[in-house]
Amino acid sequence: MKIGIIGAGAVGLLYGGWLGKFHEVTMFPRTKEQARLLNEKGITVKGGMSPFTVSVKAQETPVSPGTQELVIVTVKQYDLSGAAAILKKMDTAIPVLFLQNGMGHLPLLEELPQERILVGTVEHGAARIDAVTVAQNGRGKTNLAFFRGNWEGIAALLETAPDVFPFRLLPDYEIMLLRKCFANAMINPLTAVLKVKNGLLLTNPHYANVFRAVFEELIALFPKLSRQEMWEEVTGICRNTKENESSMLKDVKKGARTEIDAILGFMLETAARKEKEIPVSAALYEMVKGMERRN
Ligand code: PAF
Repeated sequence: MKIGIIGAGAVGLLYGGWLGKFHEVTMFPRTKEQARLLNEKGITVKGGMSPFTVSVKAQETPVSPGTQELVIVTVKQYDLSGAAAILKKMDTAIPVLFLQNGMGHLPLLEELPQERILVGTVEHGAARIDAVTVAQNGRGKTNLAFFRGNWEGIAALLETAPDVFPFRLLPDYEIMLLRKCFANAMINPLTAVLKVKNGLLLTNPHYANVFRAVFEELIALFPKLSRQEMWEEVTGICRNTKENESSMLKDVKKGARTEIDAILGFMLETAARKEKEIPVSAALYEMVKGMERRN
């Protein structure tokens, strides 16, 4: 399958590397320089498994990823408007998969002309080492759900590499994104403020107490989510990515903008709508916003 990937940060490189083993991948990074390096060196995926390098093609965006059979958008939620401008010029029959944290991108997807839109959630831990190298710090799966339309090519994607880089198709995109947003709301702000890897939220008993307090606040907002399933899911993600620094911690360290609004901002809006207090989460939100402002 010909797959185009818009964005070549940690997530873009991870998907480019793994999918490049089995499909014909073209990367669309933001800069000419990264496109040149990707064409020359391919993508190297390192981590807990034997490292591998695959050849990929690359073109600097805003070249239209028009001739692809699937386009995957991996840029952060707050950078989506650039990707949306490209997608608006593309053949609307080409399916597009969005891999963003949070729920904030849904209104933008509504406006796109695409006939087939999928959304996905990423459970792998990934860290960009340089323009062509990514470390996979923990292996999970990619959950997918249709946001609009249907696509029979999904079968080929699901069968790509079920044992080493699994994809799973779920029936309800809203529940899927909510569950991931919930996990990110618990893991990302706390790890960013405490400056610790994901695993420590479970193994340090004091951090674990705060982690549990955030869980209790957030689970009370969503009576539709099963308390036990959510606890198992979030602690499972923490364990699988125990050696990973969350994307929010990485952003804070780099002095970059974080996804706090798409993640905890969404939780605070939900709490306000439901007239509930979530004081620990509200404090974490302010701390991350404060760190962003300092940078
Ligand atoms: O945002 C992140 O870092 C990731 O979604 C996850 C799964 C929490 C791993 O760090």
